[in-house]
Amino acid sequence: MRTILSRAKTPMNKHKIVLVAGARPNFMKLAPLLRLLHADAEFTPVFVHTGQHYDDRLSGCFFRDLALPNPDHHLGVGSGSHAQQTAEIMKRFEPVVLDEKPDSVLVVGDVNSTMAAAIVSSKLEVPVIHVEAGLRSCDRSMPEEINRVITDAISDLLLVTEESGRHNLLKEGIADARIHLVGNLMIDSLRQSLSAAQTSDILERLSIGGDAFGLVTLHRPSNVDSSAHLDEVVAALSDISRSLPLLFPVHPRTRGQLSSMHVQIPDSIRLIDPLGYLDFLCLMSNSSLVLTDSGGIQEETTALGIPCITLRENTERPVTIQQGTNILGGTRRETILAAWRETVERPKSGTIPPFWDGSAASRCVAAIRAHFTDASTQSPSFSVAAYA
Ligand code: UD1
Repeated sequence: MRTILSRAKTPMNKHKIVLVAGARPNFMKLAPLLRLLHADAEFTPVFVHTGQHYDDRLSGCFFRDLALPNPDHHLGVGSGSHAQQTAEIMKRFEPVVLDEKPDSVLVVGDVNSTMAAAIVSSKLEVPVIHVEAGLRSCDRSMPEEINRVITDAISDLLLVTEESGRHNLLKEGIADARIHLVGNLMIDSLRQSLSAAQTSDILERLSIGGDAFGLVTLHRPSNVDSSAHLDEVVAALSDISRSLPLLFPVHPRTRGQLSSMHVQIPDSIRLIDPLGYLDFLCLMSNSSLVLTDSGGIQEETTALGIPCITLRENTERPVTIQQGTNILGGTRRETILAAWRETVERPKSGTIPPFWDGSAASRCVAAIRAHFTDASTQSPSFSVAAYA
């Protein structure tokens, strides 16, 4: 494995880097990175929140739990169709880039804000850094897969969380010199927050004693936007909840669909409002099983050694299956129940994937420093000033 730390370096002028977040899973990835960049005399970080998520329970409380600084720019885009939301982010982000004239723009993950900010930056010839690059479900019906493929195709520096990311990018023709395995920023946040999460009083507030419970999250359009699919998943969860009571913090999208489709939920599945980061981490680390269609939670359960059944037909995070505690449960009642039986009979203990060790942020910074001080890896020269 090539090490990013050993590459030849020349001194770097102060580097202005715009970091973009928009939706819930972005905040825990940016928090450890922003902290390091603010403390580094060679960088001037500028933090942009697109406002894709705006509810306190999906955004504000993550700022408090992760001690994130206030954004330097809040674009306030809100909800809309994919086209409307993406277009609105692009329209509102472009003047920020023109005004700030950054040396690079860093985007994380695979949400609409990620792709929109990457397109704007790339067209202004500002180098794009993509954290969590290269993940592929190979399922183009997922909006996130489209966001990943487009973002990676126009990124200059691609920082990957697992080896599959490098493999996928190489197959797509991206030069190896621009790809670095840095580990997982989400696990940096998890490790930094775990002891604070253990002091959360969420177990008392929900009157959960020492009893075993399972934790559920569900928000993918493929699961919740069709009543046939939602019925299958809820039927399986209802069966499982007869043996293991389930706690289900409900995403606003899912809350709306459960209500408009009049889905019946038994008492053994307890619906609660979405939780903040520390409360959710506390519940997850005390649960005996997690059932989810989230990407990040597949990774967090692997880091915590908690069994996870992913309620999807595929995952873009294969290391969580190969090395971690994750198994694919599919989206039909029978396949989910088969995964549940397997988990009960042979629970996976798993191992921690390489570099999911709490130091991903410092590897990201080292990779960025190396990339921008080594002329051979840089894109052709450019000037944002030309657009001003
Ligand atoms: C988005 C991401 C998804 C990520 C998820 C985490 C995309 C394509 N999807 O999905 O990858 O896993 O965030 O939550 O970027 N809503 C609120 N309050 C909010 C935000 C949204 O009530 O603060 C409701 C609105 O009705 C909105 C719906 O949730 O229409 C969906 O929100 P949206 O940001 O479009 O996608 P998510 O499903 O949250």
